[in-house]
Parts: sequence; structure tokens; C-alpha cells
Amino acid sequence: MEPKKVDHLADRLATHWAEELKAWGIPEHILASAPESPWTHDPKAFAVDDALPTETPSYQAAKAAFQRGGTVIDVGVGGGRSSLGLGALATHITGVDASQAMLDRFSTTATEQSTPHTTILGNWPEVAGQAGTADVVICHHVLYNVSEIVLFISALTNAAIRQVVVEITDSHPQSRLNDAWLHFHNITRPTSPNASDALEIIRALNDHVEISSIQRRLSVAAVDKQAQIAYVRRTLCLPFNREPEVAAYLARHPLAETRKAVTIAWPGTANSK
Ligand SMILES: C[S@@+](CC[C@H](N)C(=O)[O-])C[C@H]1O[C@@H](n2cnc3c(N)ncnc32)[C@H](O)[C@@H]1O
Repeated sequence: MEPKKVDHLADRLATHWAEELKAWGIPEHILASAPESPWTHDPKAFAVDDALPTETPSYQAAKAAFQRGGTVIDVGVGGGRSSLGLGALATHITGVDASQAMLDRFSTTATEQSTPHTTILGNWPEVAGQAGTADVVICHHVLYNVSEIVLFISALTNAAIRQVVVEITDSHPQSRLNDAWLHFHNITRPTSPNASDALEIIRALNDHVEISSIQRRLSVAAVDKQAQIAYVRRTLCLPFNREPEVAAYLARHPLAETRKAVTIAWPGTANSK
């Protein structure tokens, strides 16, 4: 009877998570005036670069799980910052992403560093069957995009032979623009859910969950001042001719170059079925 109670708790927490994520939607009248999609990610901001730290708690958790090396599935791989730092320890990386531009960026870098890899285009967990299983399943900076979090997390656990390693920022990545939303649109944005909410759901679904955190620098491209002006203008649905105003605002209120990143890791179940 105990597992049923646990599932019920996870479902209740997940319903709350989905409701809180919904509140991040952009009001229709603002979205209607956007000259381009505010939701697009620039692959450059997620590319592997010289500033990629590979001794983070997330990298350490992955390395500890496979000791001498092993296979990886990286869900929401982006440009590969979450797994390509494993170098030769990763004997094969399956990169899964909903964006072909991100997969192309990942493939180019993986090929340059001679990391055996394949890519799967599509949404997790729908494409989990194509990915199969791997020693370690990695998923960095994706959870705040996921409203069906129980299905998503369970598919990560089912795909991992040894360990799942998730990393997320302590608060929603868009929350660093909350003051800008107030300034440009007079709109108060949400402040939840956060990493503690994700942790509670993961703990309701899994045993032996470990957590650690670190203050992490963003990628070189993500802290480039010109790129930040374009990113903030686009995300706030403002027209191109307001970029000078955005630039002036960011000069007064610079975006932080580091974020608190939380690592949540737990054992996979792929081999125990
Ligand atoms: C913020 S980026 C993080 C990229 C990389 N993991 C990193 O840490 O740099 C999130 C990535 O997840 C992808 N993504 C979001 N939801 C997804 C889903 N349900 N299935 C597959 N990819 C997803 C996006 O296309 C994007 O490339």
C-alpha cells in the first residue's frame, strides 16, 4: 500500500508544479505584439566553450557513477554543455533535444572532440523508447519547461542503468527578468516553482536522492552584452527599435553572470526490471 501513497503525493505535488509553471505564460496582448517568438533559445548560448566548468557537482555525480567510463543519454542536450565535458569518460552520448539547431551544435562539438554520439530529435519522454538505456542519464536545465513532470522524471529513471543526474537553477531561469517585466510592461511575474519544489517531487518518486549546489558562471555567449540586449528585448516581446532602451536599462541593472545551480541525483532502475 505504501507505494500508492507515494504516487499520490507525487501527483499532488506535480499538479501544483504544473499550475505554477502555467503562470509563466505571457499575457495574450503582449504576445500578439511580439515581433518574434520570445521562447526561442540561441544555440550559441548553450555551446561548449572555454568557460565550461567540468568539476561541478553534476559532473562529479556523473563521473562517480561510471568510475572508468560508460554510456550517457543527455536529455535536452542543447549544445552539449551538460555532457561533453565528460570527455573520454563518456564512451557514447545519445543527445536528445526538441530542437534540431541545438542537436547540430551538439553534433559538431562532439565530432570535433571525437566523442562517439548519436542524436534523437523530439520531446522527452515521447522519444524515450528510441533512446533506450544508458549508464548515466543527464538532464540539465530542462525541468522548468516540463509541465508533465512525473512522466518526465519516471522516464529518466527508467532509462538509467546506474544514475540520473538532473541540474536546475534554484529559481526559474526567467525570474532574473522579473524586474525588467515590471519596468517595461508593469507586470509582476511569478517567483515559483523553484528547485525545492522539483526536489520534493523527485523525492516522492525515488529513494536515495542526493542534492548539492554551486554558484555557476553562465556561458561566454550568454554573458555577452550585445547578446543579452537582444535576448532581453526578444523575451520581453519588445520591438527592435526599443533595443537602445533595453541597453540603457541593462547598463543600470546588469544581469548576474552566475546562477545557483542545484544538482539532484538518484539511482536509475533500468537494470532492475
Ligand atoms: C536551457 S537548454 C539546456 C541545454 C543543456 N542541457 C545545458 O545545460 O546547457 C534546454 C534544452 O532542452 C531542450 N528541451 C526542452 N524541453 C525538452 C523536452 N521535453 N525534450 C527534449 N528536449 C527538450 C531545449 O530545446 C533546449 O535545447
